[in-house]
Amino acid sequence: MPATAFVNGRYLPLAHASLAVEDRGTQFADAVYEVVAMFARRPLDWEAHRWRLRRGLAALFIEGAPADPALDTIAQTLWRRSRLEDGLLYIQVSRGTAKRDHGFPTGVRPNLVMTARPFDFRRRLAQQQSGVAVATLPDPRWSRCDLKTTGLLGAVLGKAEAHRLGAFEAMFHTEDGTVTEGASTNMWLVEPSGTLVTHPLSARILPGIMRETTLRLARDARIPVAERPFTLAEARAAPELFLTSTTGPLLPITRLDDQPVGAGTPHEGRPGPVATRLLSLLWAEIARQTGWTP
Ligand code: PDD
Repeated sequence: MPATAFVNGRYLPLAHASLAVEDRGTQFADAVYEVVAMFARRPLDWEAHRWRLRRGLAALFIEGAPADPALDTIAQTLWRRSRLEDGLLYIQVSRGTAKRDHGFPTGVRPNLVMTARPFDFRRRLAQQQSGVAVATLPDPRWSRCDLKTTGLLGAVLGKAEAHRLGAFEAMFHTEDGTVTEGASTNMWLVEPSGTLVTHPLSARILPGIMRETTLRLARDARIPVAERPFTLAEARAAPELFLTSTTGPLLPITRLDDQPVGAGTPHEGRPGPVATRLLSLLWAEIARQTGWTP
């Protein structure tokens, strides 16, 4: 069974899984979700993902989702049934199914969906060596990007435009030229001094789990970090850029629009030393948590 799902108490093949037409997630994006990386049947940073899910549910006033122990059991059972080694565990909790009306319905229970799908993290190794291209685009999203809701149209359109431009990802920026994050990734630059910079936590960005893990690994390795906004002009002049996300988990950016990153450095247009060092720290962390090695 290559892809498996759990829907409100039932385990079934993904192709047979469905939700009601009036699920509030479908009609209002009234739902939160998580994407968790599974390596060798173990989740990476599971507690952090569960924390972010709870935070999102509380912010949306969604009550009645299964408690942590039940959530853990469902996730474990689903993964066991899927017989997958590596892959992505997707979790979605909507407010529930109700007659379409903007106001919160009463007496409904949340709809809980989980899916297990294969994902080949090894294929990232080649991309990590070549780096990826990124296109700068205006950030089209709403003002609560810190909530991981299924309202992803801004991200979807941004990603499509980036792909149309031949890029792997978008680098979103506000009107004043401040870089927020990617369509589905957090953005980083390395200053000429070697300091790592990423947007501080705020309603403008998703508190990425891989962002947090990367910050922790950098601090442990005594790499200086600054959580501060940076501009498009800084990004264009930075010796190194990279992005992080659950599925990345870290990818050097080697092209920004039509320019090579790190112009004038020995690694122009190729991954730089800081991103390369962080990548090895990250693979070691994945091995520590899950036993998985590339
Ligand atoms: N995307 N920023 C945005 C807007 C995201 O959608 C994501 C994750 C991230 C990185 O967060 P994390 O490190 O927790 O994956 C940042 C997921 C993977 C997705 O929607 O598929």
